[in-house]
Amino acid sequence: MGYKVAVVGATGNVGREMLAILSERGFDADEVVPLASRRSMGVEVSYGNRTLKVKATENHDFSDTDICLMSAGSDISKEWSPKIAAKGCVVIDNSSCWRFDPDVPLVVPEVNADAVAGFKKKNIIANPNCSTTQLVVALKPLHDRAIVKRVVVATYQSVSGAGKEGMDELFAQTRAIFVKRIAFNVIPHIDVFMEDGATREEWKMAEETKKILDPKIEVSATCVRVPVFIGHSEAVNVEFEKAISAEQAREILRKAPGVLVVDKREPGGYVTPFEAVGEDATYVSRIRADKTVKHGLSFWCVSDNLRKGAALNTVQIAEILVNRKLLSPKKKAA
Ligand SMILES: NC(=O)c1ccc[n+]([C@@H]2O[C@H](COP(=O)([O-])OP(=O)(O)OC[C@H]3O[C@@H](n4cnc5c(N)ncnc54)[C@H](OP(=O)(O)O)[C@@H]3O)[C@@H](O)[C@H]2O)c1
Repeated sequence: MGYKVAVVGATGNVGREMLAILSERGFDADEVVPLASRRSMGVEVSYGNRTLKVKATENHDFSDTDICLMSAGSDISKEWSPKIAAKGCVVIDNSSCWRFDPDVPLVVPEVNADAVAGFKKKNIIANPNCSTTQLVVALKPLHDRAIVKRVVVATYQSVSGAGKEGMDELFAQTRAIFVKRIAFNVIPHIDVFMEDGATREEWKMAEETKKILDPKIEVSATCVRVPVFIGHSEAVNVEFEKAISAEQAREILRKAPGVLVVDKREPGGYVTPFEAVGEDATYVSRIRADKTVKHGLSFWCVSDNLRKGAALNTVQIAEILVNRKLLSPKKKAA
């Protein structure tokens, strides 16, 4: 007997990818229910080679649903996640709403899979921001070896990170989702400005890295939207406590879960977002020493923000619940 899984936000960029990944990975689901707003009632979405009809979230009774993959933004999550969780359905949420709640685990399976077990306090698990996820996947094996002290990161984030409307705007340049022109331009502004001049996206990268990887790590981020449809890139500079050479880092990263090293030091011997689309890995290229600090490295890191940055990570968390027997299907229990 398998699980009953609901996907809230099933018509969105991330929700559609969740349905695809559940099917690709053969997730143990007896039933998958696509949910969205009332506007989308009856809209057809793909789940493997099947077509499912979207229902309105408010019309769904979650009491016999085991897992809800939530991808409809913070406001919807704030309203719905506690109600869904109260019905005994575990919510794995993609928005920023619950990430800093001490009773909600913030999980990247390659980094802190054990934290999933803490879901029982609220029946909610949070998925990090897409830029944080690929960063910590690359940092974790290096941190285990040489202890990361400080990270300076500049992101180059695709428009799909701003939802389907962001993609439409780059395509048509007709509607003002972004505050400045995005086609043939770059915008150093993602999410709202904070009092200290950083944006909330930059603050999230720093605080999420601390919660997932190590509270002692300092992160200075500059987050930039670029006219790329899918795939986030990051130029990362890391200062370590212990010595680590570029060659050692390359070897460690080659063996690390979720990481693929493409680093040929020749024209084209690195990964760009275009090649990362539809892939599961976090790609690391351009690994080199930073001679301006005692133990420093720089590298380039690229990942599909809709997959590892969102939908894939969410499904991997659901797989931990199942594989570690942290959750039994309700139908079986009944
Ligand atoms: N894109 C990324 O790279 C990324 C990465 C990590 C996390 N996230 C997070 O994932 C979430 C979704 O992002 P996205 O890129 O998929 O956005 P999106 O393409 O704009 O999709 C939004 C989804 O939310 C649904 N929705 C809106 N209002 C609703 C309501 N009242 N009740 C139920 N569903 C409602 C929409 O349904 P309708 O079609 O019916 O309006 C749609 O399915 C956001 O929280 C975002 O921050 C995104």
